[in-house]
Amino acid sequence: MDKINSLTGMMDLLASKTSTEELANKIFYTEKVLQEIFDNFKISQIRTPSLEHTNLFKRSVGDLSDIVNKELYTFSDKNDRSITLRPEGTASVIRSLIEKKLDGDFHKLWYLGPMWRYERPQKGRYRQFNQAGVEILGYKEGMAEFEMISMVCSINHRLKIEKPTIKINHLGDNETKKNFCDALIKYLKPIKSQLDEKDLSKLEKNPLRILDSKSPQTIELLKDGPKISEFLQESSLKIMDLIVDTFSDECEIQIDHNLVRGLDYYTGFVFEAISSNLGAQDAYLGGGRYDNLCKQLGGKDLPAIGMAIGIERLSLLSNVLEEYKTSLSLIIISSNMEPKAYKIAHNIRSLNNNINVDVQLSDGSLKSKLRRANKDNSSYAIIIGDEELGSDSVIVKSLSDDDSEQTIMKMNDFNNFIKNLK
Ligand code: HAM
Repeated sequence: MDKINSLTGMMDLLASKTSTEELANKIFYTEKVLQEIFDNFKISQIRTPSLEHTNLFKRSVGDLSDIVNKELYTFSDKNDRSITLRPEGTASVIRSLIEKKLDGDFHKLWYLGPMWRYERPQKGRYRQFNQAGVEILGYKEGMAEFEMISMVCSINHRLKIEKPTIKINHLGDNETKKNFCDALIKYLKPIKSQLDEKDLSKLEKNPLRILDSKSPQTIELLKDGPKISEFLQESSLKIMDLIVDTFSDECEIQIDHNLVRGLDYYTGFVFEAISSNLGAQDAYLGGGRYDNLCKQLGGKDLPAIGMAIGIERLSLLSNVLEEYKTSLSLIIISSNMEPKAYKIAHNIRSLNNNINVDVQLSDGSLKSKLRRANKDNSSYAIIIGDEELGSDSVIVKSLSDDDSEQTIMKMNDFNNFIKNLK
């Protein structure tokens, strides 16, 4: 029969027991560290469904964005409703708060889970990928911006990210944005024959997005064009300077007036963290302020700022590996069912939950079981045969390189040994 493979751009993640350097292990560990950081910032978890009404993303991420235009996984359900696999988490968080009538309060929320975008897969770009996101809601522009950048610096620091740069920009208020877009259109219209098809369409539909054009010709043309900094209010320029001053002793922060982000809901301060170690897909997190989204989705006027972290990209950059916990491999040498031997493993776990216990369930010789215990990085093998069962004792064999002793221990001594293991 034909084999069935996974879909293009969608990975299986299977942890390796022998190397914490495997990407799956790094991903699972990165998720743990992020959750610790979110706890440190006193942020609460929210979990929303993976499926939403398609309109939620059209009205938030935006009809003009690449995500909604080209990348949604959309289908009709059995009731002919248009349903979409979420391409990001922010819209769902706001939808949930509005639905629960919590859109008038302050919140600090985090989430973690898979997102789907139908993009062309390449290194660091998948069709199913994982994001951890943080949304800080109810707070106007000010300290919340500092909280976001403080969190980005903590992530860089805890995971020992190499060569990180945080880019920041400000998109201004509605009036600033309109004045700047008018000036950009006025500048580009007479020379529009020099733009490629993609940028021409942006010029008509969403001129601000021309700023992150990848076309070398457009980049050259923009050098002589209007700059958003010339249109921004004093307060917007000031918050960027203050953020640079506050954090640049530990993070490299660059003001980049071409940073506009690919989702339509942003309204003010925006940021992205990149690393040259990632290659073409160099942004491992991004976010910004989106003060109008809640109202746009039928809720209250709820100022908000947030970010999402690409877990796969962050894990590729992480230089911190999970440390092995002390682990025991329990080897029962008997072909019969030995509930008494199994009960010993059960008791070990309740005596000390800082250690891991792998009960070897397969048949096989002592030699092959010891080989497996070594391969799985166990610190000790606990061997129980008929003789040990009869004399209420176990054999404890150290598996560390410099000490391969083995000791017979009576059950009382063994229990004390387990309690004292770290
Ligand atoms: P985003 O910039 O679209 O923002 O995505 C955030 C991060 O997700 C990116 O920086 C990247 O690391 C990762 N990412 C995006 N697409 C892919 C992909 N195809 N494969 C692998 N990783 C990917 C958002 O999603 C906003 N919701 C962020 C936000 C939250 N803004 C305010 N609150």
